[in-house]
Amino acid sequence: MAYEVKGVVALSKGAPVTIETIIVPDPGPGEAVVDVQACGVCHTDLHYREGGINDEFPFLLGHEAAGVVSAVGEGVTNVAVGDYVILNWRAVCGECRACAAGKPWYCFNTHNAAQKMTLADGTELSPALGIGAFVEKTLVHSGQCTKVDPAAPPTAAGLLGCGVMAGVGAAINTGGVTRGNSVAVFGCGGVGDAAIAGAKLAGASTIIAVDIDDRKLEWARGMGATHTVNSQGTDPVEAIRALTGGFGVDVSIDAVGHPAVYEQAFYARDLAGTVVLVGVPNPTMEVTLPMIEVFGRGGALKSSWYGDCLPSRDFPMLIDLYLQGRFDLDAFVSETISLDAVEQAFEKMHNGDVLRSVVVFDK
Ligand SMILES: NC(=O)c1ccc[n+]([C@@H]2O[C@H](COP(=O)([O-])OP(=O)(O)OC[C@H]3O[C@@H](n4cnc5c(N)ncnc54)[C@H](O)[C@@H]3O)[C@@H](O)[C@H]2O)c1
Ligand SMILES: [Zn+2]
Ligand SMILES: [Zn+2]
Repeated sequence: MAYEVKGVVALSKGAPVTIETIIVPDPGPGEAVVDVQACGVCHTDLHYREGGINDEFPFLLGHEAAGVVSAVGEGVTNVAVGDYVILNWRAVCGECRACAAGKPWYCFNTHNAAQKMTLADGTELSPALGIGAFVEKTLVHSGQCTKVDPAAPPTAAGLLGCGVMAGVGAAINTGGVTRGNSVAVFGCGGVGDAAIAGAKLAGASTIIAVDIDDRKLEWARGMGATHTVNSQGTDPVEAIRALTGGFGVDVSIDAVGHPAVYEQAFYARDLAGTVVLVGVPNPTMEVTLPMIEVFGRGGALKSSWYGDCLPSRDFPMLIDLYLQGRFDLDAFVSETISLDAVEQAFEKMHNGDVLRSVVVFDK
């Protein structure tokens, strides 16, 4: 028997999102249905609504979520009904060439539910990042469910499902930030601030936050930034060099996904340093760099898919640190909202008024 629930859908490019009736099928083999308890609003949801990811409208938005498994399909062994889980959008296959090479965080064949959720008229929905969690119940592949300690509230835990994991992982997993490093983070939204918090957790001694909004810079200080630069009035590359003895940082993270910012991140890096791109560019963006600089500066230019995380390794670890008071997930939650306030939350995000609005389902 299929379920009929309410969810937030982007019906067409650029149009305000609407609440629609969603039909969620019973879980098939390897699938699970999860009762969503909280789901953060990530900039990637807005990218979907604006057609910046692909044209496969209508999208069922939301992908940064925690909830409780309410049904499982045949053959599911990693989770059971009643388990408290964070949803992940890269359920590794264990068999592709990346997995076979022992680097499953790069998995090239990640799993999603085989069945489709639909609108009431049968139109198939494209779930954002293979999840779709601005909805009371969602259908995912069981591998997309990672069990964590239920002592962590869903408003905080859900954030690990995307933005916070992406940011922390961009610093620690992709950038390899370690104690004593200098780090610059461009863009201090949920993802950038998580990169700052991750750099602090890893022991970086200089953490420079760059944004065009002073409020964001103030919040970034609260997350662990030791210095801030507003790149609207100041050349951030010069400012970062001045703060690092004229050299630049060991790890430079672009958490915006814009060519001009990527260039700043590239030039703000010390010789043999690492540039990490975690912000998502749109398909029309291009960067041009002098090839001699790419060669002459050495080091690494890396992209960070989901913070190169392994949900089964990283989610429980970060939840433990949260419960021990060593990693403040609550600091990312600017407000909790009801399902019908996602469109306003996009506006607040766009205006820089929030780090994360989080939809909660008892509101
Ligand atoms: N790689 C991944 O796996 C992954 C996961 C989640 C999100 N993302 C992407 O990360 C990016 C950030 O997401 P978010 O949720 O933090 O968004 P956000 O809107 O909350 O934050 C973006 C921040 O960038 C700042 N900014 C904008 N233009 C800037 C500029 N020119 N220079 C410096 N700062 C600038 C804004 O003021 C804001 O503080 C998005 O592109 C999102 O799609 C990537
Ligand atoms: Zn794989
Ligand atoms: Zn996201």
